[in-house]
Amino acid sequence: MQIDIVSVFPEFFDSLNVSLLGKAQESGLLDIHAHNLRDWTHDVHHSVDDTPVGGGAGMVMKPEVWAECLDDLLQLPDTGAAPRSLPESSPDKAVLIFPNPSAPLFTQTAATELSRAQHIVFGCGRYEGIDARVPQYYAEQGVDVREYSIGDYVLNGGEVAVYAMIEAITRLIPGFMGNPESIVEESYTGDPLLEHRQFTKPAVWRGLAVPEVLTSGDHGKVDRFRRDEALERTSRLRPDLIELLNCADLDKADRKTLIELGWEVSSVHPRHLVQKKQA
Ligand code: ADE
Repeated sequence: MQIDIVSVFPEFFDSLNVSLLGKAQESGLLDIHAHNLRDWTHDVHHSVDDTPVGGGAGMVMKPEVWAECLDDLLQLPDTGAAPRSLPESSPDKAVLIFPNPSAPLFTQTAATELSRAQHIVFGCGRYEGIDARVPQYYAEQGVDVREYSIGDYVLNGGEVAVYAMIEAITRLIPGFMGNPESIVEESYTGDPLLEHRQFTKPAVWRGLAVPEVLTSGDHGKVDRFRRDEALERTSRLRPDLIELLNCADLDKADRKTLIELGWEVSSVHPRHLVQKKQA
């Protein structure tokens, strides 16, 4: 996968060269470049922003600079002419992603889908963001343009959000993880449940014992204990995720646990609902 990042602080991404991401680049699985947006400016001050049209605080990033940069990275002609219609499923079609606190939430589902892309270009906004015509223009050119928020809080710029998205996406590329099984078991993969707790040795540490069932050697019991713990933690910490469960995907023991946790588990056709019981 090729990843291009555009930022006014490209050095922020230097640490992508360490750990598993560094290894993946050495092995050729990933090719990551962080570019300085100011390299596409022509004025002596290398300015990338201007005042907002309509007034307001702060500065907005200029469309012309972004377009020169993105035309190069996406290898599009800089004509502003008729839209190119790129085929929907073209394997080398680039995905252009802008982090944005006012956008849909970036989820594991999005990460999984994006892990199959050949080329992703991330555009990191600063200040009050990028002129809104930039994503609009590239979408009209047939580019797959996405905007994502990584959470309901505002960061100083898109860099941290892009870093998080790169980690979430690249670790799902086949061959990236040393042990691919760790992906299968973790939170948000498959059922949208939080993960059960993890323990290592010693069995008792500072007076705190690991749950006895985990040392029993009975794999069936361990699996059930972990599944119940995942259901209980999700019910307590993220009840919104329980409501996304499809009752048809739950086994008898799951249903029993959820009912004990106060959920109504209905298998009535056509909606398989898991709902909080009315008080
Ligand atoms: N830029 C600033 N805050 C952000 C957020 N929460 N998600 C994505 N991009 C952002």
